[in-house]
Amino acid sequence: MRRILVTGAAGQVGSELVPALRERYGSDMVVGSDIRVPPVEAVSEGPFEHVDCTHIREIDHAVRRYEIGAIYHLAGLLSATAEEKPRIAWDINMGGLYRVLEVARQHGCSVFFPSSIGAFGPTTPRRQTPQETIQRPTTIYGIMKVSGEMLCDYYQQRFGIDTRGLRLPGLISHVAPPGGGTTDYAVEIFHQAVRYDHYTSFLRADTRLDMMYMPDAIRAVISLMEADPSRLVHRNAFNVTAMNITPAELAEEIRIHRPRFEIDYEVDPLRQAIADSWPEEIDDAAAREEWDWNPDYDLATMTIDMLEHLTARLRPRRRASTD
Ligand SMILES: NC(=O)c1ccc[n+]([C@@H]2O[C@H](COP(=O)([O-])OP(=O)(O)OC[C@H]3O[C@@H](n4cnc5c(N)ncnc54)[C@H](O)[C@@H]3O)[C@@H](O)[C@H]2O)c1
Repeated sequence: MRRILVTGAAGQVGSELVPALRERYGSDMVVGSDIRVPPVEAVSEGPFEHVDCTHIREIDHAVRRYEIGAIYHLAGLLSATAEEKPRIAWDINMGGLYRVLEVARQHGCSVFFPSSIGAFGPTTPRRQTPQETIQRPTTIYGIMKVSGEMLCDYYQQRFGIDTRGLRLPGLISHVAPPGGGTTDYAVEIFHQAVRYDHYTSFLRADTRLDMMYMPDAIRAVISLMEADPSRLVHRNAFNVTAMNITPAELAEEIRIHRPRFEIDYEVDPLRQAIADSWPEEIDDAAAREEWDWNPDYDLATMTIDMLEHLTARLRPRRRASTD
């Protein structure tokens, strides 16, 4: 078996995907890479390389040096950050994916590409959003995700590269902080609940979006990459979800365990506009049929697990103090 390279491994997803892959395939078989030093120790407990995905030679060097057979391409800027820096985001998200696919083509690697519910737009059906439907996103992040989905399809059809991908919803996790996305509120709310019993949401109370707990997301990535290719009709950009919730509903669930928890709202127009352009609830029937996708966590079980982990790690503080 050739090794696995994970790009953007120091981020929210990579911090949990790298240890999970190492546990499954062996520490030496999984090479983490990023442009920054990983803040989470587990990521550096094994080979780790500096790889800037905007430089094809750096990707190529890592693939040759470690005899890589699969690239899990996580490097990129998230929705809110991309909207603030669209030109840089294009270089990293589109340029990075193109270079990864080119290296994969030259060395016969398979590629995992994480798309997002951001690949949909305001003209997409908002409820039970089908696997195949209108995709006219209005954010630069979404435009790059749709283009990325199509570029992966192209490399698969034209060059026979085994590309696979998921349209991930907002990811909730307690290991690494989120990297500047529209659904970051669903992580911040837990940290602030444990520390201050108070959270100010940057999204409106009734903003309904799909979400998933990170252990399910990691399982989804690995299951898709291990799926029997003869069963895959779609290969790329599978809709996957585990729950769809609003900030008010999440606050209510947290209050079951922390009755003093309070939420208020100071809406950020940029992130609210992004959220309003996304579906409320996607249909993941294709993933369930083609590779048996089924999430373990719902709102109730995810909330219990998040609070348990963060309560063990964070100390409560008074609201006036700073982080
Ligand atoms: N987190 C979510 O809620 C979510 C939801 C849907 C899709 N996704 C997608 O999953 C992927 C990973 O997301 P994440 O949440 O871990 O993001 P993140 O922002 O936490 O991590 C991204 C990592 O990429 C690295 N990076 C940036 N530019 C780079 C470059 N030029 N070369 C190499 N590395 C570079 C950053 O240093 C960072 O560690 C992204 O493609 C994202 O769009 C994430």
